[in-house]
Amino acid sequence: MSTILVIDDNPAVATALEVLFSLRDFQTICAESPPDGLAILARQRVDVVIQDMNFRADTTSGEDGAALFRTIRARFPELPVILLTAWTHLESAVELVKAGAADYLAKPWDDHKLLTTVHNLVELSETRRELARRRSDEDRRRTELEQRYDLRGAVFADPAMERMIALACQVARADVPVLVTGPNGAGKEKIAEIVQANSAVREAPFVTLNCGALPSELIEAELFGAEIGAYTGASRAREGKFESADGGTLLLDEIGNLSSNGQMKLLRVLETGRFERLGSNRERQVKVRVISATNADLPAMIRAGTFREDLYYRLNTIELRVPPLAQRADDILPLARHFLAAGKQLTADAREALRRHTWPGNVRELKNALQRAALLAAGPEITVADLALPAASPVPSPSPSDDTIDRAAIEAALARAGGVIAQAATELGLSRQALYRRMEKVGIPRE
Ligand SMILES: Nc1ncnc2c1ncn2[C@@H]1O[C@H](COP(=O)(O)OP(=O)(O)OP(=O)(O)O)[C@@H](O)[C@H]1O
Ligand SMILES: [Mg+2]
Repeated sequence: MSTILVIDDNPAVATALEVLFSLRDFQTICAESPPDGLAILARQRVDVVIQDMNFRADTTSGEDGAALFRTIRARFPELPVILLTAWTHLESAVELVKAGAADYLAKPWDDHKLLTTVHNLVELSETRRELARRRSDEDRRRTELEQRYDLRGAVFADPAMERMIALACQVARADVPVLVTGPNGAGKEKIAEIVQANSAVREAPFVTLNCGALPSELIEAELFGAEIGAYTGASRAREGKFESADGGTLLLDEIGNLSSNGQMKLLRVLETGRFERLGSNRERQVKVRVISATNADLPAMIRAGTFREDLYYRLNTIELRVPPLAQRADDILPLARHFLAAGKQLTADAREALRRHTWPGNVRELKNALQRAALLAAGPEITVADLALPAASPVPSPSPSDDTIDRAAIEAALARAGGVIAQAATELGLSRQALYRRMEKVGIPRE
């Protein structure tokens, strides 16, 4: 229940307001003088103050009321205040209202208007309190994260990114496969590094294979090794990445490029730890933590018959979705500062342009833009022109992270948020409108 403090020396006014609000489920406390009112504010939580402008000591000038208002503002900058004033003093009330979170009504007041004003201000104060609480929670969680884990110098400020990194750290210790998904240049490899750096095998080998950079026959030889003559040009026996990574971690980048034969073999290693080199019958056994990464839409590849469903479920025991940079606008400037060459500064316009750009190439594009700008900039200042951002970036295609927010994820977020849409949207890294659209799409009623 919200609490309203009425500070008015006229008992008739106090009683009328008390009756009005008790019918609307507000708790009303009355104070007869400014000192009494301030004492109550010091003692307990109040959501809205309704104060008179004239008190006995000085009945007409409104100076007592103005002084009270200023004191409340100074001590409780966020507390909403409604000034009740005579028509003759409206002007000075307006001046005060301009000073911040407040409203005014002329006496005699209109009940309906007063209730609406109170409702609006209560909502405002709840939102502010909630924001402040969330911010301090975030700060605390962030400090904890930085103290407990090696974040590999990752820069982030967006809550969605923070949650994802916290999850990466949390699952790092478990001996389960991790799949990192997200668009080009969003930071998938960075996240994979965080998982490795906080795992139980962080001191053991960390081997990476980029499946996107090799033709499919060679990927298999790279992964599993090959004996002499196993394929054209295999002039000597070689060990594969699984052997080199034994006891440690193997990062399979661009996993969507693996051939169907390679997928089958990979599935077997993941299930049994066993495999053979190409051109050999000798079974080998390894213990490897596999992290895979992709910007491909694996579920779509499964539907198209080009990726094995059973392998997918093996790889994605834990899926870490890296949101596109455009969906975590709060990360843009911190990242830009991070990539900024020493001694260089961004002009205000340049910062604005960075925030507005849609970043189809994500963090990598941002990094390149800043490196290029640092070379082009004549002086210490980097201007919009130096950034040379493409004038109109294409509208980014719906990202996999957005598309993969399914009904269950939305329902879970709504449940955690107690049905508060704005809060669920923040948790999912969506705007309120975007969440409504997704709810409609997956058939969750708006209430
Ligand atoms: N949060 C971050 N903090 C600091 N640097 C980052 C962050 N995210 C990405 N980077 C840097 O941006 C560049 C691109 O990131 P990364 O290689 O991890 O992206 P990716 O998603 O694996 O890209 P690709 O789709 O091309 O494989 C790298 O230089 C990386 O170090
Ligand atoms: Mg990568």
